[in-house]
Amino acid sequence: MRRLTVPKLRARKVDGVTDEPLVMLTAYTARQAQLLDPHCDMLLVGDSLAQVIYGLPSTIPVTLEMMANHAAAVVRGSYHSVVVVDMPFGSYETSPEDAFDSAARLLKESGAAAVKLEGGEAMAETVAFLTQRGIPVMGHVGLTPQAVNVLGGYTARGRSDAEADKIVGDAKALDEAGAFAIVIEGVVEPIAIAATEAVSCPTIGIGASAKCDGQVLVTEDMLGMFERVPRFVKRYGDIATTISETAAAYASEVRERSFPTEEQTYQPK
Ligand code: KIV
Ligand code: NA
Repeated sequence: MRRLTVPKLRARKVDGVTDEPLVMLTAYTARQAQLLDPHCDMLLVGDSLAQVIYGLPSTIPVTLEMMANHAAAVVRGSYHSVVVVDMPFGSYETSPEDAFDSAARLLKESGAAAVKLEGGEAMAETVAFLTQRGIPVMGHVGLTPQAVNVLGGYTARGRSDAEADKIVGDAKALDEAGAFAIVIEGVVEPIAIAATEAVSCPTIGIGASAKCDGQVLVTEDMLGMFERVPRFVKRYGDIATTISETAAAYASEVRERSFPTEEQTYQPK
């Protein structure tokens, strides 16, 4: 089976209607990508790796090198899904030219097919610049975690009329600039629906609405890796318990010398 392409995914929404919702999950490692790939349309190498993998307090400290390395692992571990890489904070905001340099580096070093960047109208020129030069761009509006220091936290957006208008306007600006899809994160449902109806490209919801054209979750959240998760996460598994119990079983067998057994040891002939 050949890998899906960005134009194929973009074409899943025709005249405002999406045949079947697009499925996206985050992936940061090769083995994780291998396991998720058959079930997804897109794998997102999200800068959420800041918190999930590196224990950082926000996505602000993430570097291009971190993103390129994890994206390369995800590309090596997948053969079906379109791999989208987050552009880290500070790597694209200053100018379309700077954004192109950063995006080109990400794609060249990883083999991923597309980048994602945060911001609406202010980033529209950059989205057009990249798209016209061969780099497909996914937008990201609403709760944009890289703007945490401006937003003041991670609470849902779109509750005031001004915020709601801005979110829909941002989505439209990205769509007109040529974004192939737009993540809508942490937005009250009616505004997520309004934004979805206002754009020609597919929207991917997270804390948004089932009426978005697709959904994304952070895989570790979905697997039940963490005790505390945002309200919009549904935990489909309880991997934290599985890992704890498995590590406890290993530790106790080591301590009582019941591991390794004959089966796991080499003997001379
Ligand atoms: O970094 C990330 O994982 C994301 C998704 C949650 C949309 O941007
Ligand atoms: Na992100």
